[in-house]
Amino acid sequence: MADDIKVAIIGHGFMGHEHEKMLTALDGYQVVGIADRDPVQLEDVKEGIKRYASNEEAFADPDVDVVLIVANNNQHHDLVLQAAAAGKDIVCEKPVAMNVEELDDMARAVDEAGVKFTVHHQRRLDPDYRTMKEVYDSGTLGDVFTVQNKLYGFNGNMHDWHVYISEGGGMLFDWGVHLLDQMLYMFPDAKVTSVFADLRNVINFEVDDYFKILLRFDNGVTGEVELGTYFLADKMDQKWFERHWFMGGNKGSAYVDGFFPEGKIVRTSELLANVGGKRTMTAAGPTRSFGPPPEGRIVTEELPVATTKHEDYWTAYAEAYRGDGDFDVKIPQTRRVLALMEAVRESARTGKSVDFE
Ligand SMILES: NC(=O)c1ccc[n+]([C@@H]2O[C@H](COP(=O)([O-])OP(=O)(O)OC[C@H]3O[C@@H](n4cnc5c(N)ncnc54)[C@H](O)[C@@H]3O)[C@@H](O)[C@H]2O)c1
Repeated sequence: MADDIKVAIIGHGFMGHEHEKMLTALDGYQVVGIADRDPVQLEDVKEGIKRYASNEEAFADPDVDVVLIVANNNQHHDLVLQAAAAGKDIVCEKPVAMNVEELDDMARAVDEAGVKFTVHHQRRLDPDYRTMKEVYDSGTLGDVFTVQNKLYGFNGNMHDWHVYISEGGGMLFDWGVHLLDQMLYMFPDAKVTSVFADLRNVINFEVDDYFKILLRFDNGVTGEVELGTYFLADKMDQKWFERHWFMGGNKGSAYVDGFFPEGKIVRTSELLANVGGKRTMTAAGPTRSFGPPPEGRIVTEELPVATTKHEDYWTAYAEAYRGDGDFDVKIPQTRRVLALMEAVRESARTGKSVDFE
């Protein structure tokens, strides 16, 4: 049995607690210690885990193999440089950096130090995303022309550092990074030729809380990513978000709702190109566009529902860590997402589409 991978966590807020819980529950990992610049955040650190008096103490701890950086977004750059200088392997939370320039600096420091470096993009394992990717990869929808990836949160729940630009706040950084990463790596070999984006501050003064992004891929797909935190709902006890995917191809459509996906595939038994339809009467009069397809041509299929879970990120990490260090989330991939977010901001600022790759 291999030795445990010994981890120090930097930043014990919401996500630091989540990491501590998950890594403690998994075989092959030991959370050795936790640091936070706010001592109050260390008060509930569990028995048997060190409470470091400073980040430096964590970086200097000979018991630590991997430093897991879970601090505010604007802290990632400096913390990665410090951990690399101390010779520690590093996993950094998303968004890995505030911009491409910062990431290039971090990548250089990590290379020079010869340490391992990857990013926590565990939402590549979300079952809703994996289900959609499986549908796309299976080819069952024929030539896919649209993929829509949408998340709406109710009643505007951003607060604390998330509402300040200087801290790396805003929804593009927070969730956009996941949704764009999912789109890019649904078809990893396709290039994004152009980007058009609307980015708004609906109720926040500094940072975006709504975006709609259109990505033109060279494989024929137009990807649409939309998110808003201010979609009002009156049944908060039942649900606080809406999560939707749609994929359309010339042979069928796929609908997926929720993070634990529900939905269906609706397919044609043969291509519905130029079928001799008939005029249909609707309440508004005759239509030649929305009439029913010929009998028997539409079939409904079950989704190939994925059962991946976030823990799988760490299982794969441990394998790569003990093997050749080829992590699933590669730094050039995270750089591409950061560059795309810069193009999104430029398009939103200018109101024009931006050529990308
Ligand atoms: N992958 C995911 O699904 C996911 C989910 C939530 C948050 N995150 C990421 O995790 C990071 C933290 O987010 P959060 O929601 O836990 O925020 P948070 O505010 O709850 O926690 C951040 C903690 O980091 C500490 N901190 C800040 N700067 C520090 C520094 N220089 N040294 C030591 N401690 C420092 C703060 O005191 C705070 O306790 C962000 O990068 C965020 O994007 C990722």
